[in-house]
Amino acid sequence: MDNPGKFYITTPIYYVNARPHIGHTYTTVVCDAIARRQRMMGVDTFFLTGTDEHGQKIERSAAAAGCSPKEFADKVSGEFRTLWDRMKITYDDFIRTTEPRHMRGVQALFTRLQERGYIYKGSYSGQYCVSDELYVDAVGPGAPCPECGRPTETVHEENYFFKLSAMQEPLLKYYAEHADFIRPETRRNEVIAFVRGGLRDLSVSRTSFTWGIPVPGDPRHVIYVWLDALANYMTALGYGSDDPRDQEKLARYWPADVHMIGKEIVRFHCVYWPAFLIAAGLPLPRSIIAHGWLLFEESKMSKSRGNIVRSETILDTLGQDALRYFLLREIVFGQDGSFSFDALVQRFNGDLANGLGNLSSRTLSMITRYFDGEVPYPSKAASLNAGFIDHETALKSQAEKAIQQFNEKFDKFDFSGALKDLWFFIAAVDGYIAETHPWSLAEEKSPDSRAQLGTILYTAAEALRIITVLAYPMIPDATAKIWRQLGLGEIERFDLPSLTWGQLQIGTELGKVEPVFPRADKSMIERMQQMEQQRSEPTPSPEEGGKGGAPDVKKTESQPAGTGAEAGQPATEAVAGSQGSGAPVIASTGTSGTSPSTDKIAIDDFLKVEMRVGEIKVAEKVKGADKLLRMEVDIGSEVRQVVAGIAKAYDPEKLIGRKVVIVANLQPRKLRGLESNGMIVAASLDDGLPVLAGFLEDVPVGAKLK
Ligand code: MSP
Repeated sequence: MDNPGKFYITTPIYYVNARPHIGHTYTTVVCDAIARRQRMMGVDTFFLTGTDEHGQKIERSAAAAGCSPKEFADKVSGEFRTLWDRMKITYDDFIRTTEPRHMRGVQALFTRLQERGYIYKGSYSGQYCVSDELYVDAVGPGAPCPECGRPTETVHEENYFFKLSAMQEPLLKYYAEHADFIRPETRRNEVIAFVRGGLRDLSVSRTSFTWGIPVPGDPRHVIYVWLDALANYMTALGYGSDDPRDQEKLARYWPADVHMIGKEIVRFHCVYWPAFLIAAGLPLPRSIIAHGWLLFEESKMSKSRGNIVRSETILDTLGQDALRYFLLREIVFGQDGSFSFDALVQRFNGDLANGLGNLSSRTLSMITRYFDGEVPYPSKAASLNAGFIDHETALKSQAEKAIQQFNEKFDKFDFSGALKDLWFFIAAVDGYIAETHPWSLAEEKSPDSRAQLGTILYTAAEALRIITVLAYPMIPDATAKIWRQLGLGEIERFDLPSLTWGQLQIGTELGKVEPVFPRADKSMIERMQQMEQQRSEPTPSPEEGGKGGAPDVKKTESQPAGTGAEAGQPATEAVAGSQGSGAPVIASTGTSGTSPSTDKIAIDDFLKVEMRVGEIKVAEKVKGADKLLRMEVDIGSEVRQVVAGIAKAYDPEKLIGRKVVIVANLQPRKLRGLESNGMIVAASLDDGLPVLAGFLEDVPVGAKLK
């Protein structure tokens, strides 16, 4: 280490185009647990998180929400910060890429790369994935992004280029000499293979939009969002500032010890970021650690899939420790893991309420009841007499093993394994209490039985102390409460390296004993699901006092595709192939042409209509019906046959691969003997052909419209 005794850890800075969900919380909680533990080890720790606010994606999201990108970013960035505060995340700094300190630093880095000859002007003509903000080596408009599968957009622009091609050898050399730079091993191998495959120069500026940091001296260009974003790890420490305090901070903490990221952004962190740093002559981070994804309903939790769970739902019900514990215990670090409300409640009741909570309250209540709330004296003689000595010796050595194993596993980022072992130890302490049944000794009232009772309760309390302090970085709130109930003050100040059996002082006065994890009943699952549903419903604007799923941005005039010109109207059925009904939708299955009603409907009525994004896989003319097409449409969960009256407007071959809006919960109908299972949404023009509804931005198949 260049700066021994310091530890600098970062989360990715999160995009502000979507509100935080438990996927973001996962990375942040992992970093928080590591940072808290480092501080307890006496290490000078700096923990950074923040928000990534520039780029085309954010600019478009803001436009769709009818507000300026800055207003949009302020709102969502604030939500991230509020959430981290509620989650008791102990970040030392929160960087926003729209802050002057960051913008100045990015420009300084760009200038430095230019001065060192790594940036030149050229022009880019090719594909770009706006969702990943990634230049893609793909051919042709709409070619899928190799990372996310969404169609790419074609970009023809004058750009500044970074000489990434010159970095192939230096990067490979660096990876070879720093085996721990990229972890886990699988990611390291992928990165090495990617770099070995050859690197092309990278466009690092854009001219077709303005929401970004201007290129110094050429403000028609904005700096590529990933160069902008990655630099946050240094600008937050003061890179680009002349202030001696910033320079000192940068010298103290840079290079970072850990950049914690999700596996989908490995290339940016393990190829681009070190390449920029090598070119700039700056030290490289020590390690980049990529974890797996949190899945919900079997796919990666993400806004665009519409399968997210918000942390607030769990915070409002079971509390932040429940979520932290679940994420760290349930997901094997490095692998993908699933979230479900059932599993959350099961873990909460099984491990927290019945496990740690129960051990804590029974041990501390007995000390309160039988020893006036003072930690009793452990008498070896008494336990010899009672024949408990073997139990106690065994428990002590189990405690020592638990400390050692926990430390080893935590340091290898095996949080789940560390907690599993620790909970084995909780079970062992429970077993010890069950076997020695202190409550019956309490009834005997003889000096011997009292000494034995004291010994058992001391032993249990000491075991509880060790469990509590080890679990603190992962579940800080509950453990801090147990610590105070143990009469030990502020847990975060505990010196972890000194932890050994027997430090609990006899005569320590306990605090007020209260339950830390009240059991959750079955209705909790339903309650959380309902809360989630409400959160994801379309919400009124903040002016109307709304609170819910979509970022609270200004009311927008652009309605989701499919709601038609008459805002608030559900998709209306029309006769297959009929035109000129004035209905906003062309029916594939319907028989009754209807005009859009002018009556208002309640949101609940609208929500009955399930609209999904579908992709046309097969399209062909229906024999004997010149207006009808038979299609097979993938709607994520299944492929549906849909028959629609759009044959006059669309060539079947041209529809293959096209994303459309499907009303998915209509009863099937038969058209020309073919079952049609769903309806395609389209504009139906009075004097023209139907026009299929679609999206300007890419959306994944199966996404719900609401
Ligand atoms: N802004 C970029 C990162 C720039 S860092 C210089 C970005 N932002 S993001 O909002 O998309 O956040 C991605 C990160 O959030 C992931 O790498 C991961 O840390 C976390 N996660 C978001 N969804 C997640 C899951 N479903 N599962 C696990 N982690 C998730 O990419």
